[in-house]
Amino acid sequence: MGKRAFITGVNGQDGGHLAKLLHDKGYEVYGMMRGQLEASHPRAQKFLTEFPYVKLVFADLVDLSAMTRAIQEIKPDEVYNLAAISHVGYSFKDPILTAEVTGKGVTNVLEAIRLSGLDKKTKFYQASTSEMYGGLDYNRPGKGYNENALFHPRSPYGVAKLYGYWITRNYRESYGIYAVSGILFNHEGERRGPEFVTRKISQAVARIKLGKQDKLELGNMDAKRDWGYAGDYVEGMWLMLQQDTPDDYVLATGETHSIRDFCELAFKEIGVDLEWQGSGVNEKGVDKKSGKTLITINPDYFRPAEVDLLLGDPSKAEKELGWKRKIDFPALVKLMVEYDLGLESN
Ligand code: GDD
Repeated sequence: MGKRAFITGVNGQDGGHLAKLLHDKGYEVYGMMRGQLEASHPRAQKFLTEFPYVKLVFADLVDLSAMTRAIQEIKPDEVYNLAAISHVGYSFKDPILTAEVTGKGVTNVLEAIRLSGLDKKTKFYQASTSEMYGGLDYNRPGKGYNENALFHPRSPYGVAKLYGYWITRNYRESYGIYAVSGILFNHEGERRGPEFVTRKISQAVARIKLGKQDKLELGNMDAKRDWGYAGDYVEGMWLMLQQDTPDDYVLATGETHSIRDFCELAFKEIGVDLEWQGSGVNEKGVDKKSGKTLITINPDYFRPAEVDLLLGDPSKAEKELGWKRKIDFPALVKLMVEYDLGLESN
């Protein structure tokens, strides 16, 4: 019989990529959705249309009894804990729920494994994040953050994720559970939600091209991110659970680009050369040829504290896991804009 995998947050960006990868590898895939849903609910139905092979489980990360029941029934070989409140900006608005779900929820999954007596069988992957570093300059300037860099989270989300990172490590060190963290830098693609900046840009570019939208409003244009393709990163998650000894790994591209860079490449895909005019909240992205304003700044998108620069050093994962990203930054932007052009044209 094939291995059994249980993915929490299966409905999110990475959940879809990972479910497909594991199914293709012969796994029986169980996916968790939250709340009072049933398999007949439209959201579950929509998911099952795309991923008919996923067996849906309805439970909630904050409910230890539900998590324990799920783990006891499935007896998974591998658990991928991808569920979280994952939007950094939103976490400032709902910091307590973020702590409950994104932080304490991790302990519930680990406890469910222990209470089920599966601590010697079930391997656990925790979706840790580059947001734990906080992007402060004193932290390995220039070289990129690796597994030994200092943490200094800058949002309730980052703080909650840091708790998740340490409790995962603590269960590994205390109980010998095969429990690891993937410290993943930003990863994007056609499955990304439009509340994240890359998808917001690719969608807007497609809609502007098709005359469905006039312009795009953004927040902090100066932030820099290490952006890879989500499809490449789920392969790294799986590899982390296939090693002789459990350990934590950074997955990143080793390159960083600003929001402005992303906009420029995305608009190039529809034949528009952007020119930047003004500064601060008055900055504008203008179509060089027509003079039309396509991008303006809306301070509502600013965050109370910002992570200015993220750059990862994936050398440990490359050396020990044989992992390497396949899709580079220009290919990622192209893939996303092309996907949204197709979607918006229908
Ligand atoms: N969302 C959003 N919307 N962000 C904007 C906007 C806007 O209109 N304008 C500028 N930004 C800036 C944000 O201030 C941030 O600096 C950057 O764009 C990226 O924002 P997001 O795409 O929302 O992602 P993130 O970097 O905050 O967090 C993502 O990556 C983390 C890994 O580093 C999320 O996927 C997290 O869950 C993940 O852990």
